[in-house]
Amino acid sequence: MNDLIQPFGSKDLIAPLIDKKSERDFQKLEAESLSKMYLNESALSNIVMLGSGYFSPLKGFMNSSQVMSVCKNYSLPDGLFWPVPIMNLTKSSSGYKIGQNIALIDSSRESESCIATMEIDDIEILSDKLIDEISLHVFGTNDLAHPGVKKFKGLGNHLISGNVQIFDLSAFPQRYPETFRTASQIREVITNSGWSRVVAFQTRNPMHRAHEELCRMAFERLDADGLIIHMLLGKLKEGDIPADIRDKCIKKMVNCYLSDIPVFVSGYGFDMLYAGPREALLHAIIRQNMGATHLIVGRDHAGVGDFYGAFEAQDIFDKLPNASQLKIKIFKADHTAFSKKLRKVVMMNEVHDHSPSDFTFLSGTRLRSMLENGQTPPGEVVRPEVADVLMKFYTDLKS
Ligand code: ADX
Repeated sequence: MNDLIQPFGSKDLIAPLIDKKSERDFQKLEAESLSKMYLNESALSNIVMLGSGYFSPLKGFMNSSQVMSVCKNYSLPDGLFWPVPIMNLTKSSSGYKIGQNIALIDSSRESESCIATMEIDDIEILSDKLIDEISLHVFGTNDLAHPGVKKFKGLGNHLISGNVQIFDLSAFPQRYPETFRTASQIREVITNSGWSRVVAFQTRNPMHRAHEELCRMAFERLDADGLIIHMLLGKLKEGDIPADIRDKCIKKMVNCYLSDIPVFVSGYGFDMLYAGPREALLHAIIRQNMGATHLIVGRDHAGVGDFYGAFEAQDIFDKLPNASQLKIKIFKADHTAFSKKLRKVVMMNEVHDHSPSDFTFLSGTRLRSMLENGQTPPGEVVRPEVADVLMKFYTDLKS
């Protein structure tokens, strides 16, 4: 019997999702008479993560004192380590009262169904100055050229907080039946597979050669029993590759090139924040909650443009004393590139006789720019089977 790593910050995994159908049907019926709140994309993606158990032990949306505590101290007022505020910000709060139970509506689906209820704990209007301060803490910038900042600043200033009761996980389970999994479903896979050392790989890209090699290196060097490729299935910035195509590419690559190691490919329903180091910390919580013992953090993890230093997302784990509340360990990877001399992907700090021209540099941004220019990415950047899927997607886009 394998003992799984504990969920983050509590003995049991906490997901405010109503599992029992009869109870859910009853509560959904009751919710029909409640005042409605239409969730924006960010709040909806927080609900999906709460309901999936990935944000365990949180039970709802934070109020401003919790938000500022997370921003300034990387912890909730009770001392629990937490790196990113989980907020329900809206453009208006008129018609709602503290203490009221309201129905949260998922407007991403045609049926506009009630996805959850929330008992309003507080309604606060944040000043623009405070919004700027939060942005600076979370993203390190107020620059609207940063896609996460741009999205955050468009949400509104009304912070409506409180615990939630969730009925379902939006369209994810139906849209990605083979890939979307909750934290407890992944824990079940790990238990059933008898794995103890489990390495998780976060990605928002179709996997290129560096991604593939990072997975293999981490699996081998950690002497792991299993590898979980855990892809983001939520929204990305414009120009990034949609989830169904990434899913196809990843599964193709795994079948062709990683079939000799035990891999489970899965995904989670969160929108990318591009918050670099803070998001890497959140990624660690998410992966501990699903039962992984290790998370791979490479170059510019969860970064965008030049907003973060290449290894800031690794360094932050050592800089923050309260990050020691995390039980999951970080596998820190150096810049990984294709060595033209050795004809394989290497960590750059492990080859000492190379000059920069001996490498082909690998990144999702580089891959996307090749594809956008109609260039077939070469085999040293991406596997040919993956290139085929991507080329077809980009050709279809243009036609
Ligand atoms: S992320 O936003 O999800 O981090 P991406 O899917 O590109 O983006 O990266 C997944 C993981 O692979 C991250 O840990 C990232 O740091 C790592 N990574 C991607 N490319 C490289 C590379 N060339 N060298 C080292 N690590 C890399």
